[in-house]
Amino acid sequence: MLLIQSSKQSAKERGNRGTMNKILCTINDKPYEIEGVPPTMSLLHYLRDVLHLTGTKEGCNEGDCGACTVVLRDASAKPEPRYRAINACLMLLPMIHGQEIYTIEGLAKDEKRHAVQESIMTHYASQCGYCTPGVAMSLFEATYRHDMTQPWQFTEQMAGNLCRCTGYRPIMACVHELAGTGDDDFAVKLREPAHPVETLDYTYDGIRFYVPMTLDEATDFKSSHPDAVVVSGSSDVSVLINKHARKTDTYMCLSHIAELSGVTKDADGLHIGSMCRLANLEAACQEEYVPFGRILRFFASHQIKQVATVGGSVGGASPVGDFAPVLTALNARVRLISSRGERSLSMGEFILGYRKTALEKDEFISGFDVPPIPSNARCASYKVSKRLELDISSVSGTCYVETDDNNIVTVARLSFGGVAAVAGARAKLAESALIGKAWTEENVEIAAQKIAEDFTPISDFRASAWYRQTVACNILRGFYQETLTDHVPARMYRPTATIQLEQ
Ligand SMILES: Cc1cc2nc3c(=O)[nH]c(=O)nc-3n(C[C@H](O)[C@H](O)[C@H](O)COP(=O)(O)OP(=O)(O)OC[C@H]3O[C@@H](n4cnc5c(N)ncnc54)[C@H](O)[C@@H]3O)c2cc1C
Ligand code: FES
Ligand code: FES
Repeated sequence: MLLIQSSKQSAKERGNRGTMNKILCTINDKPYEIEGVPPTMSLLHYLRDVLHLTGTKEGCNEGDCGACTVVLRDASAKPEPRYRAINACLMLLPMIHGQEIYTIEGLAKDEKRHAVQESIMTHYASQCGYCTPGVAMSLFEATYRHDMTQPWQFTEQMAGNLCRCTGYRPIMACVHELAGTGDDDFAVKLREPAHPVETLDYTYDGIRFYVPMTLDEATDFKSSHPDAVVVSGSSDVSVLINKHARKTDTYMCLSHIAELSGVTKDADGLHIGSMCRLANLEAACQEEYVPFGRILRFFASHQIKQVATVGGSVGGASPVGDFAPVLTALNARVRLISSRGERSLSMGEFILGYRKTALEKDEFISGFDVPPIPSNARCASYKVSKRLELDISSVSGTCYVETDDNNIVTVARLSFGGVAAVAGARAKLAESALIGKAWTEENVEIAAQKIAEDFTPISDFRASAWYRQTVACNILRGFYQETLTDHVPARMYRPTATIQLEQ
């Protein structure tokens, strides 16, 4: 199914859209035209080193602590516009082209503290204060959210903000007090339409950063610049720049292409644009396609999910990525686009090896198609990590099994992360052991033991080989137990770790 009609439009048909070579944005409602700085500079360093807005703090510089949290206004968010708390350390400057950013300095108005600041004072939710600007900005976002109805959403809202000294109880008291209460100038501002911007073609010091507004511009640029690194949410790309000094000459960022950002459901299944932000997919998969919602609850942090995308989560083919196992087990197809057209591959055809994909140099991922989950299917996703929140998985896995009227397994797809060199590796021996057999605890046990033959994981600082192998086997055992009563179990409030006590 071709979702994206890549119709070639002339500049005139697109409304004579031109190209800018300066980054336009507002910061605390003040307009800026940014030039003369490297495109690989993060928003955090621009705020602190160029604008001297030093309220925003640097902790880890890799998305882990939340000290750098700022907020951007997303006027086109569905179902309603919203502020999004993001990590300024992971935001490359050209990505804020056309965006409205708020920092801690923008909260108080006319010498009057914002409700967030009052709440932090009232609840004594700050001690040394280093984390406090970031905490305040996550609380600011919550103040204007109207969808926080479940207890887990309050924890999730603050999961990306580390505090070493206050303790989380007072901080959680603030978020409970503030959520959904915003009724001030910021609430009015939220409803204003977005300001359209032109395509950005920004070069400084030999590094070019292209931010197209349409799919045609993106495919044309990629075909004429096949070595351009594709950037979506940049949560991986920025870490490579910040921590490993891995820079390249040309980047192309897909963040402004509206055609790529949607998620829709129809009779053919779930259709996810490659630029669909993880937060949006999580919200869309609470009741249906629940394995996505379950894995996303414990995926990265709230701030990262506001910018990180589905395309980016498999584009790098990370063997410890949490997303490839879900897409693989649910039999998703990956759509790849170039100026030559669009093609669709299964996940198995797309992932070719360790961090290796079937992408041609002029292509990028445009989206994913996930077939409907039939009523005879059981499926669930699992993430096992050392820390409850904001941790890379030791092992993640998604199990999918269909049975016929006689309880015989007709389809089995068991896909794992963290146990093999390839992303979303399939436990083929275990799958073969299940197919044609009755779906019983005895047969599942035989298949679980096969998983130990399927994978020979390595030991590293996250987990030993023994632990990874044991957890992978136990995920299948846990899946059998969990789906006895509910074929597609609801989201969990904790990650799972079913560990075999006897060896
Ligand atoms: C603090 C932190 C916590 C994290 N936690 C998790 C976690 O719990 N689970 C997990 O799986 N990952 C985690 N990650 C990794 C990362 O955030 C996710 O994989 C995220 O989904 C990447 O999406 P992105 O849009 O930011 O990708 P980007 O950084 O923009 O891109 C990632 C890679 O994909 C390529 N790419 C991007 N878009 C496309 C496209 N459309 N077509 C082709 N290639 C493309 C890029 O060139 C790059 O190689 C974490 C990262 C950080 C910094
Ligand atoms: S500085 Fe730690 S998340 Fe940005
Ligand atoms: S108040 Fe000190 S780190 Fe949070």
